Amino acid sequence: MLNNKLEEALNKQINAEFWSAYLYLSMSLNFENAGLTGIANWFKIQFQEEQAHAQIFMDYVNKRGGRVELQPIDAVPTKWDTPLSAFEDTLKHEKVVTSLINNLFALAEEVRDYASRDRIMWFVTEQVEEEDSANTLIEKLRRVGNDGMGLYLIDQELATRTYTAPAPLSGE
Ligand code: FEO
Repeated sequence: MLNNKLEEALNKQINAEFWSAYLYLSMSLNFENAGLTGIANWFKIQFQEEQAHAQIFMDYVNKRGGRVELQPIDAVPTKWDTPLSAFEDTLKHEKVVTSLINNLFALAEEVRDYASRDRIMWFVTEQVEEEDSANTLIEKLRRVGNDGMGLYLIDQELATRTYTAPAPLSGE
């Protein structure tokens, strides 16, 4: 059985993952409207990944005999004037998520739940990727500045991103 405090924290994290999904869906819609369909695609994949993160936690809580209680998802921003501002917000948000994941990891250790600690470890590694990909895109966008052709090429590149189910969901 899951420790009560940890079960509550995992439920909060499930809500946070859905909030992340909602945030990236909002960014995707924003850029779809702006005609930057490659960037919209990148955020749509991000939306799918965040739902997968929530699913991993939900599966885990269920497997451990815990109870998932879905809570309301807070409102998200709806407007970004530039791709750069959206990716800056992405990085800022992912840094917050990293600290949430680190706190969860510490709590699992505190209550000596090593199975949970192992599950959470996957997210610790995932957060390195999340921050790195946002950082890389911020650097690219800063480099192109106001160059329309540069932005066009980045949009083309991000159109190629496809969704792959994360390892814990694909049974790896
Ligand atoms: Fe669920 Fe973007 O981390």
